[in-house]
Parts: sequence; C-alpha cells; structure tokens
Amino acid sequence: MTAQLINGKEVSRQRLEILARKTAERRASGLHTPCLAVILVGNDPASTVYVRNKKLACEKVGFESLSYELPADTSQEALLKLVDELNGNAEVDGILVQLPLPKQIDSQAVLERILPHKDVDGFHPYNVGRLVVKMPLMRPCTPKGVMTLLEAYGIDVTGKKAVVVGASNIVGRPQALELLLARATVTICHSATQNLAEEVGAADIVVVGVGKPNFVKGEWIKPGAVVIDVGINRLEDGKLCGDVEFEVAKERASMITPVPGGVGPMTIATLLENTLHAAELHDNR
Ligand code: GUN
Repeated sequence: MTAQLINGKEVSRQRLEILARKTAERRASGLHTPCLAVILVGNDPASTVYVRNKKLACEKVGFESLSYELPADTSQEALLKLVDELNGNAEVDGILVQLPLPKQIDSQAVLERILPHKDVDGFHPYNVGRLVVKMPLMRPCTPKGVMTLLEAYGIDVTGKKAVVVGASNIVGRPQALELLLARATVTICHSATQNLAEEVGAADIVVVGVGKPNFVKGEWIKPGAVVIDVGINRLEDGKLCGDVEFEVAKERASMITPVPGGVGPMTIATLLENTLHAAELHDNR
C-alpha cells in the first residue's frame, strides 16, 4: 500500500495564516510588530535560498525583518559586534545567524552570544538545557516543526518506538529530546551505530536528518511506520531529494514526508512562531 503524504507545505500555510492574524491583532491592540534579524555570512547557495525564504515568510505574516549580508571573510570579532548591537536593539525580537559559518568563525561562540530570549533558533546552551529539563523557552525550529506536523496528522507518539537518524545539534539531538518530551521511546543513531538497518526497522516513527541523499534505504522501513525526512539534498541534475529512499519507502510506510514540501516549510513556520514568542516575552519584560 502506498503511504499517505504528509503535506508540510499545507500545514505551514495554515500556521502562517494564524501568525498573520495574530500579528494584525497585536497591531490593532497597540503592541509592537514582531521583528526578526537574519544574518548571512558568505554566499553559500543553499543558505542564500533559506535566508531569502525566511525573509519572504516574515513579509507574508506582516513581521518586520532586518537582514545583514556579510562577506565570507568577515571576522569573528565583527560578527560578535553585530550580534551585540542586535542584542541591545529594543526593536529586534529575534536574531538568527544562518549556519554553517565560514571556518574562521567559531559558530558556538557566536550562538552563545545571542541573548537566550532572542535566540529564535533555540541553539544557545541555555535553551538546549531548558529543553533537556522539560522547561523549553525557545525550541529548535526543525524538530519543533516535525512535532507540529505529527500532531497535525493526528500521529500520537506516546509509547511509540521513535528512531532518530543523525545526532546533529540542529536536528538529531533536539529531535530526540522533543520525542522524549512527547513520551516516545527514543533511539538516536549516528555514524558509529552498528546495524543501522535493524534499528530503523524496529521504529514506529523514523526521523532522518543526516544530509546524505537516499541514505536510509526504503527496505529498512517497518511496514506501517511513519517516515519523516528532514534532509534536503541537491543532486547534480538540480533536483532536490531527501535522506530517505523515497520511492521504495513510500510503498512500506503508512505516512511519509516528501522532499521538497515536507519538513522544510515547517522549519520556516516554526521560526516565525518562535519570533512571535520572542515578541511576547519582550512585551512582558
Ligand atoms: N542551517 C541549516 N538549518 C538551520 C537552522 O535551522 N538555523 C540556522 N540558523 N541555520 C541553519
């Protein structure tokens, strides 16, 4: 049986509609318009597209956005100075530094410089720690977006066996924490995992974020499992594909996200939800 497609584009559209309404309501009641500052260093093609999409989404819901495009040879000192300025700018609710950063910059030092209540990516160790102790403040966008998608499709993860493939700080680790928070039994697989096929084959829910095209084979998927593919890989022919061998996996899974149109749009919707949350924290400061 062919799996039902999980339409992230549609769920994202609905979330943006809600955000646009809330933004208009804020304005009508005299509250400030949420403002997101986005910093891009260098001209990585994928990052350039992501940043453009983030700014366009801000426009769509009526947020303000500030954008900073810095040359690839920007020093760490210069970037930290910009972060300090944005931290101190009362107009700015959220700050996002697009990753990856050029190699002369220590990414972690930059992420730790962002004030935690403006850290709409949820990457500051303060926010990571709050997620660990089940008291989230800002939750990383992609994993939170995946949880929103599961909820939108009525997929209850309580007591289910969830397997996360990939242990990055952006996707895998926080995804495992989100699933744990939602009371799944969670396994994290990474490059040292033995018998990956067996681990994946035991999962009711599989979330894959490794950045390698077709890395998870369709035949590994347990019949009836839910497959969430976070990967967005550009192939030589210019087409996009995920980390899961989609054509085979969709014949085994009960539900699956396509690439594009699955998780990607949810990351952006969640970023804007986090920015609204940052604006609400700002209201109360
Ligand atoms: N690069 C890839 N994904 C992300 C993300 O969610 N946030 C930031 N800042 N950079 C990224």
